[in-house]
Amino acid sequence: MTGPDMTKRGTAGPAAAGPAVAGPMLEVSDLHVQIAARHGTVRAVDGVSLEVAGGEALGLVGESGSGKSMTLRAILGVLPPEARITSGQIVLDGVDLVPLSNSDLNHIRGPKMSMVFQEPMSALNPVMRVGHQIAEGPRVHMGYSRSKAAERALELMRRVGIPDPERRFRAYPHEFSGGMRQRVMIAIALSCDPEIILCDEPTTALDVTIQDQILRLLARLCADSGVSLIFVTHDLPVVAQLCQRVAVMYGGQLVETGDVREVLLDPRHPYTLGLVRSAPDVEYVRNSLVAIPGSPPSLVTPPSGCRFHPRCEFAEEDCKVQPTPLRELPGGSRSRATACLHYERCQDAVAADRVGP
Ligand SMILES: Nc1ncnc2c1ncn2[C@@H]1O[C@H](COP(=O)(O)OP(=O)(O)O)[C@@H](O)[C@H]1O
Ligand SMILES: [Mg+2]
Repeated sequence: MTGPDMTKRGTAGPAAAGPAVAGPMLEVSDLHVQIAARHGTVRAVDGVSLEVAGGEALGLVGESGSGKSMTLRAILGVLPPEARITSGQIVLDGVDLVPLSNSDLNHIRGPKMSMVFQEPMSALNPVMRVGHQIAEGPRVHMGYSRSKAAERALELMRRVGIPDPERRFRAYPHEFSGGMRQRVMIAIALSCDPEIILCDEPTTALDVTIQDQILRLLARLCADSGVSLIFVTHDLPVVAQLCQRVAVMYGGQLVETGDVREVLLDPRHPYTLGLVRSAPDVEYVRNSLVAIPGSPPSLVTPPSGCRFHPRCEFAEEDCKVQPTPLRELPGGSRSRATACLHYERCQDAVAADRVGP
């Protein structure tokens, strides 16, 4: 369905113009990403479906190696050469990105979608002045003149809280602190007024105070400009602070999705329960601080049935054989879903945690 462009970006360049679509702004369906490795084929993303509405922030959480980064890279079209999308759809504003060529994607990266990486130093050009790196997108994608793009860069530097932007415009990335470099990355990500920003653990390398400042900045920018966010992290309190919805990933698959508070306070998957119980800083009724036993599954030869069953305290025989796709919970709010066959056990465990010993 098309209609008048209700989004904030009606004035952007021609490459950015797309149909205004009712429904989710980004919809990923049954995404599969495989990596050719020496020890076999890694099924890094194995049937992930998720959606993000306009202006919404979705947190994507899970242990290291669960496929979070590969999911984001697949969405942006920047997978490493050994990885490829084997099936699935990634529909942004009504257009499926999966069949698009790299040059087609170049019209989408920047104006529609951008990414903030964990390590800004590797994403920034070390020999190019910071201001010019921020101005590049508007010049290339929005047809701005050199001086207009420079003005835009200065405005963005102000917006992301870089002090003394006139002077810092001419500086190089190594002259910036880690936190300031991440602000530069965010300015670049915002520079063409995208619909959605993908963040891959953008604050993990920063100390706690700076981390908090960057998170506040992102939250404010999203609220002000209505840009959507997918925020990858293993830090649950950060998700609670920044995101409205959360998707929990385990072994290349989603195991639980829903409203952040519902999922973190009342989990319906044993893996999520394990995460919230073992996290010292997340608000849950009873943090036992006991780590989930066992280790993450192999993504070359994953366990049969539910991938979490070898580590699960509630596992039954059927968990070892039945595939466990996400299913919506009866009576839950929008996209409240779990992949657990026996989620009532989880519900009972949460109830018991509430009562206490
Ligand atoms: N270049 C690669 N070669 C082989 N396996 C890889 C490569 N990159 C990532 N993987 C594997 O893909 C899986 C998903 O990785 P990733 O998406 O980076 O996880 P996360 O971001 O959740 O920590 C992991 O099992 C990881 O070991
Ligand atoms: Mg990662």
